[in-house]
Amino acid sequence: MEADEWWKSGVFYQIYPPSFQDSSGNGTGDLRGVEQRLDYVALTLGVDAIWLSPIYPSPMIDGGYDVSHLTDVDPLFGSLQDFDALLQKAQELGLKLIMDFIPNHTSDQHPWFVSSRSSRLDSRRDWYVWRDPAPGGGPPNNWLSLFGGSAWALDSTTGQYYLHSFCKEQPDLNWRNPGVESALFAAARFWLDRGVDGFRVDAAHWIMKDPQWRDNPLNPSPGGYHKSLGEYDSQLHLYDKAHPDVHGVYRRFRKLVDGYPVPDRFCAGEVHIYDLEEWASYYGKELDEFHMPFNFSLLNSPWEAASVGKVVDDLEDAIPPGAWPNYVLGNHDESRIATRLGPQYSGPAAMLLLTLRGTPTLYYGDEIGMRDVDVPAAKARDPWGRKLPGLSRDPSRTPMQWDGSKSSGFSKAPPDRLWLPQAEDYRNRNVARQLVEPDSLLNLYRRILRFRRESQALRLGAYRRIATAPRDVLGYRREHRSECLTVLHNFGDRAAEMTVDEHCRVVLSTRRAREGELVEFSIEVEPCQSLVLRAVQAVTPPSWSRPE
Ligand code: NOJ
Repeated sequence: MEADEWWKSGVFYQIYPPSFQDSSGNGTGDLRGVEQRLDYVALTLGVDAIWLSPIYPSPMIDGGYDVSHLTDVDPLFGSLQDFDALLQKAQELGLKLIMDFIPNHTSDQHPWFVSSRSSRLDSRRDWYVWRDPAPGGGPPNNWLSLFGGSAWALDSTTGQYYLHSFCKEQPDLNWRNPGVESALFAAARFWLDRGVDGFRVDAAHWIMKDPQWRDNPLNPSPGGYHKSLGEYDSQLHLYDKAHPDVHGVYRRFRKLVDGYPVPDRFCAGEVHIYDLEEWASYYGKELDEFHMPFNFSLLNSPWEAASVGKVVDDLEDAIPPGAWPNYVLGNHDESRIATRLGPQYSGPAAMLLLTLRGTPTLYYGDEIGMRDVDVPAAKARDPWGRKLPGLSRDPSRTPMQWDGSKSSGFSKAPPDRLWLPQAEDYRNRNVARQLVEPDSLLNLYRRILRFRRESQALRLGAYRRIATAPRDVLGYRREHRSECLTVLHNFGDRAAEMTVDEHCRVVLSTRRAREGELVEFSIEVEPCQSLVLRAVQAVTPPSWSRPE
């Protein structure tokens, strides 16, 4: 493996298409809109790759994760031509582009499912998971849908239940039928042939279930995950996903992806598994599955030095030799960083994410500190939120705040026509404003990203924890050849004194005024502050100035 493959040294930026930029004025973001904003992404912000959330034709029951055609673009977002134009512009700017790929389920409107549900004898019947009712009636087993209720829906026409791990409009595909694999792999090839750089594979571990359809056992001690998932937490999900046969599929998928060597392609898996050993198995025994399974462990950690440090150290220990780590602090399924951790931690979170060893993924809008927006029930879009309002993901999917104009530069449509309401703070919190404020969060992101580009130590260097840091400070070294950086994060609300063994200069700071500061022997890290120090040659005072 080359040391500097693009997906290792680069930074990903997730774009949620309905919310990024609307070019048509209908209140929903689209592909031309994304294209218009690529200069911002590549040049102003300075990331290396984008992950585009689903753009496929879809009834949009689950934000496009209910796909009714795998090789086309939903008219809401544009056309295949618009997609090609976007891809071309991305390539001109040197940006890689990966797409969401959704193998676990389709929409119930997908022609495959329409055909499958039409008769028990249909040639596509076995492409989905159909089971007879339990003896005595009712669902075949106790499996639950993540979005609430049983994971089984009765189809009255044919008298059998179909499985839906998510909404009932998202029937699960049956990956034990070879036709499913061929069809999904063909769809992946369609996009790779068009030139995309790879995929983020949705709900990756979900595709293989227990072939004996056993009931899940009850969970004796629900909890441990950073948010409660309601009834879903009442079971141990031993049988409804992550059957070991899943690995064979991803080994074959990786072969497919590697069959496109120029330029080299990439696949990441969305793998929410909290046992690190099992999670790490998705790299593959021979590192022949995902280039990286997304690592969500930071989302699960209390925001304090010891816990975050332990998460990082545990991850460093868990990944197989030669595998590459990665970190996630936000995405379209999670509460925004500024809301979840508190706005004072937006800067430190950026410093952490962009200075740890591994590939960072940023979520659109976090770079300006966007916050969760209370979306009234009448405007709710998220099916999960409609069933369990506390779990709605709408609050973190609101329109990007570009400027202080009426619909925040996101759309020409009036604010009440936007697909989700915009945040009330858009006049003060927007890209245009933060670009001209030297101390803004956006400018902090830009400084870190610029520095990171030039720093082999940050992009590729080794990670070594500094064991002697004060209690509230997480400290680590990043080293590559002669470049040696010290990174310090003070999670506490009091200043902390830290000794350093060499002369250093502050090269990055969440408080810009500190950048350039020379450090000798010790440094005070202010509350909620992150610093990056670079060792400098100790300056020996000239002999004539030394006291006798
Ligand atoms: C995970 C995606 O991130 C989420 O948004 C979606 O609802 C489910 N998978 C189902 O596709």
